[in-house]
Amino acid sequence: MAEVREGTQMWEHERLVVRTGRRSGMTTMVALHSTQAGPAVGGCRMKAYDQVTDAVTDVLRLSRAMTRKCEAAGIPHGGAKSVIVVDRELTPERRRAVLLDHADLINEFGGAYRAGPDVGTGPDDMLVLKELTPHAYCLPEEHGGTGSSSGPTARGVLAALRAAARHTFGTEDLAGRKVVISGFGSVGELVARGLPGADVVVSDVDQSRRTGEFGWVAPEEAYRTKADVLVPAAVGGVLSPETVRELDVRVVVGPANNQLTEDGVEALLEERGIVWVPDHVASAGGVIYTLAREDDGDDHETALTRVDAIEATVRRLLARQ
Ligand SMILES: NC(=O)c1ccc[n+]([C@@H]2O[C@H](COP(=O)([O-])OP(=O)(O)OC[C@H]3O[C@@H](n4cnc5c(N)ncnc54)[C@H](O)[C@@H]3O)[C@@H](O)[C@H]2O)c1
Repeated sequence: MAEVREGTQMWEHERLVVRTGRRSGMTTMVALHSTQAGPAVGGCRMKAYDQVTDAVTDVLRLSRAMTRKCEAAGIPHGGAKSVIVVDRELTPERRRAVLLDHADLINEFGGAYRAGPDVGTGPDDMLVLKELTPHAYCLPEEHGGTGSSSGPTARGVLAALRAAARHTFGTEDLAGRKVVISGFGSVGELVARGLPGADVVVSDVDQSRRTGEFGWVAPEEAYRTKADVLVPAAVGGVLSPETVRELDVRVVVGPANNQLTEDGVEALLEERGIVWVPDHVASAGGVIYTLAREDDGDDHETALTRVDAIEATVRRLLARQ
């Protein structure tokens, strides 16, 4: 009889499928975390990894985070995520081939997984998926979709920030306060532009993103810079016991998924008196908006009102602490 290992972590996902695409020869995967609340939704990430096992770890963690995100946002969907592992040069032909391969994989789920864009993919890629599967969100607007979700995501981050600022500073007005944004990409830039009067300092590994419009700090300094607010808007896994020890801010709110490296970091943040809004709450604007428009048929303004409700969600969350 097999030895019983106490404390073995339970497998909590419903399904993980990894495939080598017949057109591209590349690896793509879907992790379906949960369909308990409804069909699972989540983005399709296209990224290079050192090892395929790193991609598997990523897709499992991201899909679990999507379940939490839908739950916190009151969306009747479960969480999933997919990853296309970039292991060779992506010519336009190869990109198309791997997206079609990925569409085949999405179809294996029979509608239990519906994909949107994520890091490395955008509305044009969703259009390619749509050639073979109906289960793709965020097509370009001229093709009847809602396009990039960066705008609503940034709007949701700003809503979360208002609630966190009121809780911490007694006012939602961040004029004159220093805000460091790590990751000056599509969401980071919109958040920066949504903070008039604040002393905004941005940071990005891509030097070409540097403009004279905002202050600039080197990426390795972003998590040590003294400021009022830190906005993680680049990658996940940025809040570890080590980085939290060095933080010199009062509030952390940002869109990056899976910001904590491990369980227990949340308690460290609390011990240090730092108000952290969980990323599955702060980053939900995109999915809330997309589903409101594409599934529920809401108009733009109504969908944005649903995104703005993140402010009340964060207010309730912080009031409980
Ligand atoms: N776009 C959305 O709707 C959405 C929704 C939910 C969550 N998110 C998450 O928010 C984050 C930002 O999304 P985005 O759409 O702006 O992505 P993006 O790719 O447009 O921007 C990310 C930026 O971060 C930079 N970057 C990468 N690694 C970095 C590092 N170590 N330090 C500093 N900068 C770094 C990149 O150069 C890029 O400019 C991602 O983690 C994404 O998963 C985005």
